[in-house]
Formats: sequence, structure tokens, C-alpha cells
Amino acid sequence: MNVDLAKKSYSSAKTLSENIEQRLKAHLDGADWRSQIPARRNQLTREGYVRVSDLLPEDLKEEVRAEARSIADAAERRIDVRIAETSNTQRKLGSVNMRDIREHGAIIPLLYDSKQLRRGLNDVTCHKVLDCDWENERMTMTRQTQPGDTHGWHWGDYQYALIFIVDHPPIECGGMLQCVPHTTWNKEQPDIFRILTENPIATYYHEGGDIYFFRTDTTLHRTYPLEEECTRIILNFTYDGPDGAERERTHETQSVIYDW
Ligand SMILES: [Fe+2]
Repeated sequence: MNVDLAKKSYSSAKTLSENIEQRLKAHLDGADWRSQIPARRNQLTREGYVRVSDLLPEDLKEEVRAEARSIADAAERRIDVRIAETSNTQRKLGSVNMRDIREHGAIIPLLYDSKQLRRGLNDVTCHKVLDCDWENERMTMTRQTQPGDTHGWHWGDYQYALIFIVDHPPIECGGMLQCVPHTTWNKEQPDIFRILTENPIATYYHEGGDIYFFRTDTTLHRTYPLEEECTRIILNFTYDGPDGAERERTHETQSVIYDW
């Protein structure tokens, strides 16, 4: 469902919000979701990553994917920069910021604040998943389309990210997620390439419609550069948790990618 259709289908944001909450509650109360929680909690602790593609019911997920594509069409801006605080790794991609997601989206902004969605994440972490206190970073999107497009090696400023894979090319085209869990970001001396030689790198392939949740502050990660012209679109929800809530932070990398 595109944004206009979504707005027409519901008489008010409140009605749309209630609709989302009802559908999510019914889904997350189900035995299929609940039976997976212990194994997912363990994987998140072990790998800093867990796939949760069934966090949304299929019909709601398709509405989110359609809306995300229309937002990217309306608001994407290309960047090609290197970030000093992450050992000069590259960001070469199209980005969409929070303001444009709010302006062009209907379902997605409500989903970030959804109590039921947060309940699902709390299930997985076994603690409260909190709002990101820097509003610009709560929701962002990237669209990669060109050979060499990459979101280069980096850590997050907040404890968690929930990533919706809107569209993803075949594995031969690149675009996979690579992670080095249980690592920490020293912004004055990031030493990323040394860390890569001293720790195992896990590589995850996703298909369109997959969703994953991961510990971005202690998981060095990147997207493998695209090998050819193809399309990879993701929607990023940033959240905090108890470990990040007291931390002092700066926002160098996000400011370069999403501030305009
Ligand atoms: Fe990231």
C-alpha cells in the first residue's frame, strides 16, 4: 500500500496507529513468535545479531516495504564520503533522513513508536528497548544501486538497530551484512583494519522481507560493496538500551550521512 492509499484507508493517524497495534498484538501473542524467543535471545548475545523476519505479520510487512520504496523514490540523496572516525571507511549510497521519512511516510513513523513492536524487541533482549534520544537518528533509510555502493565498516552510536530489508539483490551481487561482534569503538583511534585481522568476521545474506535486530554499538559492521547495478534498500530503526542510556556520545558519522 502506498502512502496516499494508506492515508486514505484510515480516517486518522490514530485509527491507523490502532490498526497497526491490533495486528501486531495478535501476531506477537501467537505461539510461533513466542516459541522462538529463547533461542533468539541467545543468538543476539552470542553474535550481536539475530534474524527476526517474523516480527511483523506478512501483510503489514508488505505495506512497510511498499511505503519504504515510495519514500526512497521521493527523498533519496546520493553521498560518497569517507569518515575519519571509522578509519576513513566509505559511505557510497543513497540516504534518506528522518525528516523525509516522517514527511513521506504514514505507517513507518507509527511503527517506530509502536508499543507492540517494542514489546517484541523487549522479548528478544530481555530488557527494555528504549527510544534513541537523538531524534534524527531514530529512522533512516539507505538505497544502494551502483557498483561499489557500500555502507563501510562502522559501529553505531546507540545500542541497537532494527533493520528491515526492503529489497535485496541476489547474493552474487554483494550487499551482504558483515559483522565483527564484541568489539568497541574508540573514535580517536578506531583501528578498524587491525580489529579485522584479529577477530572473525560473520557474513549474513538477506532476502527482501527479512528483518534483523543487532547490537550496533559493540558490533563492527558494514555492507559488502555491490558488484554490479542492482537495488538494495533498507529501513533502519535505531534504539537504545540500558548499556547505552548513560553513555555520552557524539554523532559524527550520522551527521555526514543524513543531515541536510
Ligand atoms: Fe550501521
